[in-house]
Amino acid sequence: MDTYQDELRADGIVRGERDCDERWTVLAPHLPDAGMLLDVGSNLGYFGLRAAIERPRLAVVSLEADPRIAARQRAIVAGHADLRRVMVLGGSLNANGAADWADTPDWFDAVLLLAIIHWFDDPAAVVRALSSMSGRLICEVPDAGDAGACGREKLELWKDPEAWFADVTGRHVRHLGRVTRHTSTEPSHMILVDGPVSRSPRRPYRGGPERELGRYRVDHDGSLTMLSVGGSVIERVPGVNLVNLMRAGALLHPSIDDVMTDATRALDRHPSHPDPFPHNMLWGPDGIRMIDFGPCDALLTTRDSLQTLRTHLPRWRDGKTVDDDAAIRHLALVNRLRASRTGQRLLGVVPPTLKRRVRRALFGR
Ligand SMILES: C[S@@+](CC[C@H](N)C(=O)[O-])C[C@H]1O[C@@H](n2cnc3c(N)ncnc32)[C@H](O)[C@@H]1O
Repeated sequence: MDTYQDELRADGIVRGERDCDERWTVLAPHLPDAGMLLDVGSNLGYFGLRAAIERPRLAVVSLEADPRIAARQRAIVAGHADLRRVMVLGGSLNANGAADWADTPDWFDAVLLLAIIHWFDDPAAVVRALSSMSGRLICEVPDAGDAGACGREKLELWKDPEAWFADVTGRHVRHLGRVTRHTSTEPSHMILVDGPVSRSPRRPYRGGPERELGRYRVDHDGSLTMLSVGGSVIERVPGVNLVNLMRAGALLHPSIDDVMTDATRALDRHPSHPDPFPHNMLWGPDGIRMIDFGPCDALLTTRDSLQTLRTHLPRWRDGKTVDDDAAIRHLALVNRLRASRTGQRLLGVVPPTLKRRVRRALFGR
């Protein structure tokens, strides 16, 4: 089987065509010790996996578009027993998806874009969006003269990679060095983008309601990241919104059972959370944590939430769109009816067959 990256298996390394150790030596000093790392176009997952193994307080979202390669990555990561801090998603990032994600308060401490930006539909739009939602970007850009790189027609953009990244991101840019390529005699450029960045997302999560501009604000001063909601700075829990992850790609690892166990644990810690749904769950180094304890009149229970997750998780694994809002709207209506006397009377006359059909439509069972 052709192997591009080294396979970092639990029982040893199987070497691929690419020199992963050489790249690791250049990028590792710039990786955070804790928090969230996103690896876009992660191939067999070498870099994210190595980061998670060597840094126990780091969680990794590893996104790979090619289903065959993503399945191989899943098997490699699953071979590392109990390593739940790497989430492997089968999916492709493009300019629309990146802008949609950046319009929510999610934050990554670092993003890896290694030999990938020339694959994007609109490299500048993707890099701009990801830069606005991360402490630093670590990028490998093939040299403009690299005759072996896929997506070669775009390489002309990076004749001067530092100038391009500075122009697109408006941040501090450093050339970390050059690394050998197995496809070319021209070494690639390793680029670091960091420094202050701010943004004002409009939605609490992808597909969620649009709020007034300025309600959310993320400010990074080059070291600390502050999140404000409605003008007040709140504690920023490390992690990424579960609904955003559901929209980024199909869940390949960890297993549905592991996610369900983590969610149940999070809900058990907050049995009276007013809105205990996946959009208020962050996945990160400590598993799943609940956020947003503000009042909510939807009358949703942790039992409703677990039922919703039982429907959502298989859909997520199968790569289907997960619409948190639809389930919540239906549940909120049912719970309002349950809570009122007229509602109880109305529900009392709904035939059991219809109730079963509604339940099946909402929860798949
Ligand atoms: C040239 S390889 C680089 C792999 C890895 N980043 C590395 O440096 O070793 C590019 C990888 O990105 C994946 N890919 C391409 N376009 C993508 C996209 N838009 N979103 C996610 N993955 C993508 C490809 O399937 C391939 O595995």
